[in-house]
Amino acid sequence: MSNNTSVNSRWSSNFAYILAATGAAVGLGNIWKFPYIMGENGGGAFVLVYLLCILFIGIPVMMAEVYIGKQGRSTPANAVAKVAQQNGRSKNWAFIGAMGVLAGFLVLSFYIVIAGWAVAYVFKSVAGDISAAGGDAQQIGELFSALTSDPKQLLAWSTLVIVGTVVVLANGVTKGLERVVSWLMPALFVLLAVIMLYAAVTGDFAAAVNFMFSPDFSKLTINGVLMALGHAFFTLSLSSGIMMIYGAYLPEGTSIARTSIYIAIADTVVALMAGLAIYPIVFANGIEPSAGPGLLFVSLPIAFGTMPLGGIVSTMFFTMVVVAAFTSALALLESSAAYLVERRGLRRKVAAIVAGSGVWLLSLGTIGSFAGWEFAQINAGAMGHNFFEILDYLTANILLPLGGLFITIFVGWVIQADSLKHHMGLGTKTFQMFSKSVKFISPIAIAVVFLNAIGWLSI
Ligand code: PHE
Repeated sequence: MSNNTSVNSRWSSNFAYILAATGAAVGLGNIWKFPYIMGENGGGAFVLVYLLCILFIGIPVMMAEVYIGKQGRSTPANAVAKVAQQNGRSKNWAFIGAMGVLAGFLVLSFYIVIAGWAVAYVFKSVAGDISAAGGDAQQIGELFSALTSDPKQLLAWSTLVIVGTVVVLANGVTKGLERVVSWLMPALFVLLAVIMLYAAVTGDFAAAVNFMFSPDFSKLTINGVLMALGHAFFTLSLSSGIMMIYGAYLPEGTSIARTSIYIAIADTVVALMAGLAIYPIVFANGIEPSAGPGLLFVSLPIAFGTMPLGGIVSTMFFTMVVVAAFTSALALLESSAAYLVERRGLRRKVAAIVAGSGVWLLSLGTIGSFAGWEFAQINAGAMGHNFFEILDYLTANILLPLGGLFITIFVGWVIQADSLKHHMGLGTKTFQMFSKSVKFISPIAIAVVFLNAIGWLSI
């Protein structure tokens, strides 16, 4: 085994950790998915439920994962096994960590394809294709379908994303990941703030604020509640091995509770800012808020085509999406790469390349799904009709919630409460709140989502 086990690495400061973990959390989920699912679910009431889910479930689950990582100081499966053994329990609980790494790997295989669309849109914006369409819905629609149905373009852009990810990770945790993230995250915040200001000035900001913050509960369905909970998991990058491996790099003396709260707040602020950047433009241009997944890649570019400085704003906007997606891709590959270093004794560089190649190979399934390749068209009924849809369903609706359920059961019921309280350094009151969440609130809520998602329960 090589000496260079990544788990010996430590973030160089608490701030570096917060930036990296926020980078992992903030991604396509915040900028692409959150605005359109909010739109589909009626706005304000959905936002409120989502915020409650982050607060009462997301933060405690994040704390639990970071705790496992830090306590085990290993890659996720090993970390869970070590914590189990420290508490006199079976090391078979390791499967929770393994499931997370697997989920992260699977998510990344389609994440790089969607991130690749955003990269393509940066180039299209710079080349003037978006402004040239002048807000013509049909032209923009054709631009999008020409991209998503062309395997060569899809392959080129997603390969670029994964190669970039591998190059950064090959340089290690502090010299690669941390350094890149500490440049990209401030850039992301600046871009987002500028775009939000632009939207406030040129768009219908009041309508957006009203849509997002005045809850109308008659518009919220039970399915919307379940989507809000599922999204809280996705957006905080929970049950994907990420928070465990980032926790393994935590310097001694870092407060798990405080940093988790900061990360969750930063992630939520970005999601809300993304909403406040997109919706004023949407409302000012008479676009339906319920436009669905095409909101970012079709509706918004239509609006950009008619707005002052549209080409520049479009370039900035999609650059921001790329940055957000890239820092999440780094995190998603990190747990697989670290696993190969720790368990297979590979050198860091080799591990990054091997993990990246695996993801790239698997991404062909998603590319084939969009490009209409025969092998990727699989009919799995409610789970989807192609490789991508099935993978998306399998991860978002099965692996992530199920992983979350096991994590809360493990931390809430399997390990000893006094050692947990001691190692987390929580006060009695805070610990009681944490404990209530991981023992009762989270597992019950997650079980409801999960059973609903797989159709055993339909509320
Ligand atoms: N949290 C990331 C986002 O919001 C995506 C992600 C999901 C990352 C699941 C890891 C695991 O885009």
